[in-house]
Amino acid sequence: MNNYRIAPSILSADFARLGEEVRAVIDAGADVIHFDVMDNHFVPNLTVGPLVCSAVRPHAVRADGSKVPIDVHLMVAPVDRIVPDFAKAGADIISFHPEGSDHIDRTLSLIRDCGCRAGLVFNPATPLSYLDYVMDKVDLILIMSVNPGFGGQKFIPSALKKLTEAKARIAAAKVDHPIWLEVDGGVKTDNIAEIAAAGADTFVAGSAIFGARDYGQVVQDMRKALASV
Ligand code: DX5
Ligand code: ZN
Repeated sequence: MNNYRIAPSILSADFARLGEEVRAVIDAGADVIHFDVMDNHFVPNLTVGPLVCSAVRPHAVRADGSKVPIDVHLMVAPVDRIVPDFAKAGADIISFHPEGSDHIDRTLSLIRDCGCRAGLVFNPATPLSYLDYVMDKVDLILIMSVNPGFGGQKFIPSALKKLTEAKARIAAAKVDHPIWLEVDGGVKTDNIAEIAAAGADTFVAGSAIFGARDYGQVVQDMRKALASV
């Protein structure tokens, strides 16, 4: 049985009640809180920054008091200036797009030096070859299954092949730390099993969860579908 993680994206939450929404998805069974940062420059939308991350941090806990990781997805350029601010704001994972950094190796090291796990994000047309020389510094590979910028878009099927290729790279790398394989965009109850079969272990879902009336039911349906893989 695989260790699958469900990561609701707060992009589709009610921002006026963000703390409550974060608690609600954790009660519903979320494993990770996905935190989408957009700068109206790298992507054509504008969301939230480190101040909101630190406001969310105390809410990202389970009933037993244990921390739920905050997975910060930076859709910004440049990247480096803002990394320490998110680390201080309580981010656990910080991922960025190679197109947003002039020095990818340096940015990965910077994230880890700040005490966070480092992720590299691949747009639908971005090749996985950016991973060739940095697998020892990568803790998370995020495959975009939509073009970044907005929630509620349709899953792009070529992401499936890319997930399988990324999974093979993780197996071949033989690094001594875990590397999560995350997928982001258009993940729903009815395609999550196929996406897991392609290799993903961590599933971002924004509109599928926050767009539903009963968050717990969606998470439960997703887990049921994952159990069939
Ligand atoms: C898109 C964001 C996603 C988004 C996913 O740029 O990175 O995390 O919230 O939303 P859904 O699940 O609605 O496609
Ligand atoms: Zn995202």
